[in-house]
Amino acid sequence: MSIENRINELKKNKKAVILAHNYQILDVQKIADFVGDSLELARKSTGVDAEIIVFAGVYFMAETAKILNPEKKVLIPEIEARCPMADMVTANDIKRLREKYPEAGFVAYVNTNADVKAEVDVICTSANAAKIVNAMPNKEIVFVPDMNLGNWVKKNSDKKVILYNGYCYVHRDFEPEKVRGLKERYPDAVLLVHPEARPEVVDMADAVVSTSGMLRYVKDSDAKRFIVVTEEGLLDRLRMLHPDREIISPGTKGICKDMKKITLQSVLHSLEEERYEIKIPDKTLNRAKASIERMLEIS
Ligand code: 13P
Ligand code: SF4
Repeated sequence: MSIENRINELKKNKKAVILAHNYQILDVQKIADFVGDSLELARKSTGVDAEIIVFAGVYFMAETAKILNPEKKVLIPEIEARCPMADMVTANDIKRLREKYPEAGFVAYVNTNADVKAEVDVICTSANAAKIVNAMPNKEIVFVPDMNLGNWVKKNSDKKVILYNGYCYVHRDFEPEKVRGLKERYPDAVLLVHPEARPEVVDMADAVVSTSGMLRYVKDSDAKRFIVVTEEGLLDRLRMLHPDREIISPGTKGICKDMKKITLQSVLHSLEEERYEIKIPDKTLNRAKASIERMLEIS
């Protein structure tokens, strides 16, 4: 029996679903019940009729699914698949910043660990960051951890946004000169940029959007060529869905090593052995849940 068939059989027998992020390798995307960006996956996790959720993504994403579904068993196929940016801010950093900025509202990107989510007022994703910040009652907002997404929010808000110094190495490494060169070489191409990219790259974009925002943009556009500044998994998905369009990488291949740790084999083992189960202390889970639910209400 093929590995895909074994996964499908286990899914049925164990009443499991597989949710996968847009950056997963195509083989994993193809076996998933739902593929999406961080916001869509968080929403989707609350509506699935299943006893087990296998989350093909990085740790904070599986943790978010567990926070929203404490009664379900949530598994991540690779325990070492983490987001380095999420690990750049700790709960103690938030407590220290609260003392420094007592009047400020605290907004955390979904790329954070559960104990950080528990300490802030509300969560946002790349799809709704400016909307969430603008909905806050405070004039001053501390935004963690991504300084580039924070910068993008700052440009789209009247609030005083205080930035933290976190970043995503994958998006930081896309060089403005290379992107500018591609724009000159392909003047008819639409430039789509993820807001985790550097401000110099974001400023050149025709649209600054989440990963699923990019998928929707290409689907609805008449253009034939796109320069897409984000992780390669999303470019692979675009090429698979739209073989008639030219999808151009941003000069350097962007690979998230952690997203790529998950394979069909590890998904199979995850289902067979019900590993690795996400566990979060109740108090942290409940406080983090309140921050995520505030986001879902606003967006
Ligand atoms: P999206 O929410 O846009 O899918 O982004 C998640 C992420 O990790 C980007 O690097
Ligand atoms: Fe984290 Fe960047 Fe990987 Fe997204 S692409 S999971 S932000 S390291």
